[in-house]
Amino acid sequence: MGYLQQTLALLRKDRCQSEAVPEWAENNRDAWLIAMPDDFMIQREAMIAALRLRLATMTDRLDEAAIHRAMTAMATVAREQFVCPLVDDLAYLPGPVDIGQDQIMSHPELVAVLAAAADPCGGAVLDVGTGSGYQAAVLSCMASTVTSIEIIAPLARLAAARLARGGYDTVSVLAGDAATTPFAAESFDAIVVAAGAAEVPCELMAALKPGGRLVMPIGATHDQEMLVLVRKHKDGSVSQTRLRPARFVPLTGAGARKIGTEPAL
Ligand SMILES: C[S@@+](CC[C@H](N)C(=O)[O-])C[C@H]1O[C@@H](n2cnc3c(N)ncnc32)[C@H](O)[C@@H]1O
Repeated sequence: MGYLQQTLALLRKDRCQSEAVPEWAENNRDAWLIAMPDDFMIQREAMIAALRLRLATMTDRLDEAAIHRAMTAMATVAREQFVCPLVDDLAYLPGPVDIGQDQIMSHPELVAVLAAAADPCGGAVLDVGTGSGYQAAVLSCMASTVTSIEIIAPLARLAAARLARGGYDTVSVLAGDAATTPFAAESFDAIVVAAGAAEVPCELMAALKPGGRLVMPIGATHDQEMLVLVRKHKDGSVSQTRLRPARFVPLTGAGARKIGTEPAL
């Protein structure tokens, strides 16, 4: 048993059973963790219930049925299996989880918004920034295939092994820079980018099918990032919907933000 598990077991033993579970909220993390039972499935149900309430405030920007599909997908994926077992108790907290290599598994709310905005409806998905592999697993429950690409090779290897162990057979993981990988033109129905840049790399726009959806954090600086849904219409035109402010880790490699670049909004 790791140090975190031991500490939690002691704190949970001492807690008062009759106390109400505090709200699943960023400023209540410790109290929520101590109040919850060890059972990850119960923690996941509590997280999904809280996420449903949060995403219900976005129905002017996200389709309600798409939110439901994203929630159903997240309810089936064991988030704890995508972090190091020593800290898996942190998996259902409202926040990102450290996955090493200076990277994180995204906040569950951002995973939910990305999945609902991309809403692949059984199509082919490109997931940029595999990280832990969690977002790819969630998307695989909504898509026919997921191609997930990660620029940090050890993370790509670890995520590929986790996804294979979890039976996510429709996900393939590549190691490389998404902005320079020659994906076939117009081959993805949806593209999800979990790293921020000043603009959408043109290679990714070229890989999106007409009628497809791309969701990505865009901003001249990290502090100005806005999660944007880009739709490529069948007549060749492109439209954008600003979903919400968000701060992601930066896109690195050829598509990385250059100082002084203006956002392409
Ligand atoms: C917020 S983390 C991703 C979280 C991930 N989706 C998950 O569920 O754990 C962003 C990831 O994008 C990766 N990344 C950054 N720039 C990239 C690029 N040009 N191509 C591919 N991956 C990139 C980072 O190395 C990092 O692992």
